[in-house]
Amino acid sequence: MGIFKFMTPEIIFGTNALGQIGESMLRLGAKKVFVVSDAGVVRAGWVETIVRHLKACRLDYCLWTEPTPNPKDYEVEQGVRAYIENGCNSVIGVGGGSAIDAAKAVALLAANGGEIRGYEGVDLVTRPLPPMVMVPTTAGSGSEVSQFAIIVHSERKLKMTIVSKSLIPDIAIIDPQTLMTMDARLTAYTGMDALTHAIESYISLAATPLTEQYSLQAMRLIAGYLRPSAASRHNREAKEAMAMASLQAGIAFSNSILGAVHAMSHQLGGLLDLPHGQINAILLPHVMEYNLISAPEKYAHIAAALGENVSGLSQTQAARKAIQAVKQLALDLDIPGSLADVSLEAHQLDFLSGNAVQDACMITNPRDLEAEEVKRLFRQALGSEDACSANRN
Ligand SMILES: [Fe+2]
Repeated sequence: MGIFKFMTPEIIFGTNALGQIGESMLRLGAKKVFVVSDAGVVRAGWVETIVRHLKACRLDYCLWTEPTPNPKDYEVEQGVRAYIENGCNSVIGVGGGSAIDAAKAVALLAANGGEIRGYEGVDLVTRPLPPMVMVPTTAGSGSEVSQFAIIVHSERKLKMTIVSKSLIPDIAIIDPQTLMTMDARLTAYTGMDALTHAIESYISLAATPLTEQYSLQAMRLIAGYLRPSAASRHNREAKEAMAMASLQAGIAFSNSILGAVHAMSHQLGGLLDLPHGQINAILLPHVMEYNLISAPEKYAHIAAALGENVSGLSQTQAARKAIQAVKQLALDLDIPGSLADVSLEAHQLDFLSGNAVQDACMITNPRDLEAEEVKRLFRQALGSEDACSANRN
């Protein structure tokens, strides 16, 4: 094994952890805080709670709630203008992955200037970012602990992957109570995103003994608690477990990167503006099938972590159970097995596949993929042969 690094932010986890946000900002030297969120999170009341805590610490703030799901490059640039015009010196992101990624991107530009498009790829950030505290209100993205920000390039219609240790927030405040305002569908989609993080990080070419432990524990928690969490927004035990699962999967993937599912879903998400977790849930079993020969032993571990009985099975039989377990979980959560209503033209499939092989997440996929293989996986995941007009060409 070569040299590896392992990084996390300071983590404050638990019921009422939100109460520590004012003191946390003061500790980081905040004077005026740029609070990034979205309309749904404002409606849920979490922004009001945070603002109350900031005021109690005599901190000034500016609220910005413009980023949309799958945040766009031009939104980030509007955000950084608001940050500068209002004289802010620190950032809070509160919401799902979209709000948190937008907050990180604003912080990046505030310190480094230029356009967000100029930072696509790995390690292109050169100046330190302003203090950042992130508060997830979904159990999925892991962005509150990760070195990633995913922003849509509005002209190329794809999601740019921006990777830099500078994007790791200073503090992640995770209060499981915030998960109680999610509906069942969002809970399911975001939970499947966390599962995808856990599985892709576990089989990643950059996985390490440290990340593997977080990946496996996240899988165990998701197998045990995602169903009850989606069943009831009042199940505190399930919410706490899913908050922990998302955190652990986030720590794992931030340090070992991801794989082909994310490389592909970034393209579909950028083109069609669909929910990230939904696309991942649909792509995951197809990519797992493709990747199986690269890591059958690890697949057997995944099956066991997902609660499958693998005793007496051959390694390959046990490995296959991992894929079955993932499919069954999506089925139980009423997530459709394909994007059957999405019809793509041949040139769009070429576009998606060509961009997917360039995505930073593809580098650590354990089995090599060329554009042709990616195209075939897209076709499978999009449903029947008929669902995609490209197949008729
Ligand atoms: Fe993800």
